Amino acid sequence: MKRIYAHRGVSSIRPENTIAAFKELSKTNVDWLETDISITSDEELFILHDDYLDRTTNISGAITTLNSAEVKKADAGSWFDSDFVNEHVPTVHETIDLINKQHLNVNIELKAVVADNANHLADVLVEKLNKEIDRLNPEVEVLISSFNPIMLLKLQRLKPELKYACLFKKETLDDDWNLYLQACHAQAIHVENKTLTKEKVQEFKKHGYEVNVWTVDDKARANQLFNWGVDGIFTNRAQEF
Ligand code: G3P
Ligand code: MG
Repeated sequence: MKRIYAHRGVSSIRPENTIAAFKELSKTNVDWLETDISITSDEELFILHDDYLDRTTNISGAITTLNSAEVKKADAGSWFDSDFVNEHVPTVHETIDLINKQHLNVNIELKAVVADNANHLADVLVEKLNKEIDRLNPEVEVLISSFNPIMLLKLQRLKPELKYACLFKKETLDDDWNLYLQACHAQAIHVENKTLTKEKVQEFKKHGYEVNVWTVDDKARANQLFNWGVDGIFTNRAQEF
């Protein structure tokens, strides 16, 4: 079955990784959400793609140096359009509630923690996420991914039963990709669309891996990838698929 993942929600028409972007999924045919998990200095989990709040909110700074009260006050919508001035940076807790309510499935991407106390915060991130995942309805399908194998292995110690994927950028996809997947007990490889070839897809499939490709907004390219045997694509344009 070919799968479509809404990359940071329906992020072409709503501010990425906000409740508005997640709610918009109910108007599409897509039931898989891809989203990114980060942690604050006071150890609360939020949904944020970048290490810093600067690009997608009206406040500045690394999330790991801000506390949850500061992050909760940030406007996460105005940068996209003034219509979304009331959007905030979602907590993981409220996002889990929304996933349950909207009957979504979820690809949780673990962001590598950038901080002086990175290893401690990373441990807390996976411990708290572990508890949040336990709050998901049993029918919700979960796929965990990361560019960082240490993050994957940390969560895997707590949740070995989940499905895991290793993420690669075109620059980091080297001949040792299979070492990463095997060491992380990953069942899927998530690779960048740019420069991906049919031969590469066939190589991943030959090794028995599920192959998901990011980010694909062009339908013709999506069809080509599916014809090559790709299992899923991440798109900002879920409303068109
Ligand atoms: O998980 C697919 C994609 O989200 C990976 O890249 O940087 O958008 O999180 P990024
Ligand atoms: Mg992501």
